[in-house]
Amino acid sequence: MSTIVPPANVASLFEPLKLGPYIARNRIFMSALTRSRSVPTNVPNDLNVEYYRQRAKSSGMIVTEGALIAQQGSEWPNAPGIWSKEQVEAWKKVTKAVHEEGGLIYIQLWHLGRASHPDAPEQIASGQPVYGPSAIAARGGKFRHIPGQPGYVTPTELDDPSIIIAQYKQAAINAMEAGFDGAELHGANGYLPHQFLDSTSNLRNDAWGGSVEKRARFTLEALQAIIDVWGKERVGIKLTPGGGYNDMGMPLEETKETFGYLVQELDKIGASYICLARYWDVGDPMIDGKRRGTPHDVIAVYGPLIKNSLVFSNTQFTPEEAAKYVSEGKSGAIFFGIPWISHPDLAKRIQYGKPLDNVPDMKTFYGHSTDIEELKKGYTDYPEAVY
Ligand code: PHB
Repeated sequence: MSTIVPPANVASLFEPLKLGPYIARNRIFMSALTRSRSVPTNVPNDLNVEYYRQRAKSSGMIVTEGALIAQQGSEWPNAPGIWSKEQVEAWKKVTKAVHEEGGLIYIQLWHLGRASHPDAPEQIASGQPVYGPSAIAARGGKFRHIPGQPGYVTPTELDDPSIIIAQYKQAAINAMEAGFDGAELHGANGYLPHQFLDSTSNLRNDAWGGSVEKRARFTLEALQAIIDVWGKERVGIKLTPGGGYNDMGMPLEETKETFGYLVQELDKIGASYICLARYWDVGDPMIDGKRRGTPHDVIAVYGPLIKNSLVFSNTQFTPEEAAKYVSEGKSGAIFFGIPWISHPDLAKRIQYGKPLDNVPDMKTFYGHSTDIEELKKGYTDYPEAVY
């Protein structure tokens, strides 16, 4: 790839980037994307290996789809996990394939908290309730894999959150054994860490809620637990301060205060990167006539507070806009999501000036089958460009 001169308006995306101990060959990163294709359930398979191999050929780095840190706190039956030996062995094939293609792959560590459902198969198998910071249900969502597509439930208040912090640590140990290059804490999109941060889902008045500092504690301790395993150079975090998804959202001033404090603390701990993903209206349905999110320019508001960590961004960037963010120093790299779904060769296309003309088929974003042939559709069968 390196001998091809990219078009001038995207050239900045092709400057290699020092990412912890690694050099990312470009700044077109692949974000976590739930694809629900680890059938029979929760264990990565050969189809997943092929999907990541295709995208490892040109991406600067890959963050896996959310990998469940424990059986409790899961949601989709066919999302991969990282809690068992079998899963670790299976992920080894994914990381090996990515490395054979010269790529980098970080695992995204995921706990759904109150966004899990008691009828989800893995949640049932865990024999435990759905937990959240407080007994407050999210509103607005539907569980598409569960018959009747029910909504969220009221979670059981977590008695001792440090039990889940320990699960992040064990998942980080497992991920290292599986051959990943690093780990990303999923602190975004209304999942467990975000639920602790947000004063509308966390009404605790113990050491884990109340003040901004106490609401931030869970995220900071989870990150520290992962860093204890991996070292800070190889651990990042994803945040969505604008909220919306999974019924997240505080008033704007409180949002700025909470996330302002959090990013400064994350920066002090020395997270390798902080991904400030932009507000996404599609994920923020109307509830009682109102959206929950607080759209604001997250890079402009929080970026200047970050002195040590790399700042990345995500969500609905065009390559040209991404290149502008990079050349203006606003973001070290940009994560792309849906464009990677429909273009296995996304970064190569951008480098060669090829059009991004595969139309993504939303019906196949998530797998809805246990039949491998069926699951290939909209997953590993998007064509590369002709070079
Ligand atoms: C989803 O499955 O729709 C999903 C999962 C994790 C996210 C966002 C969306 O962070």
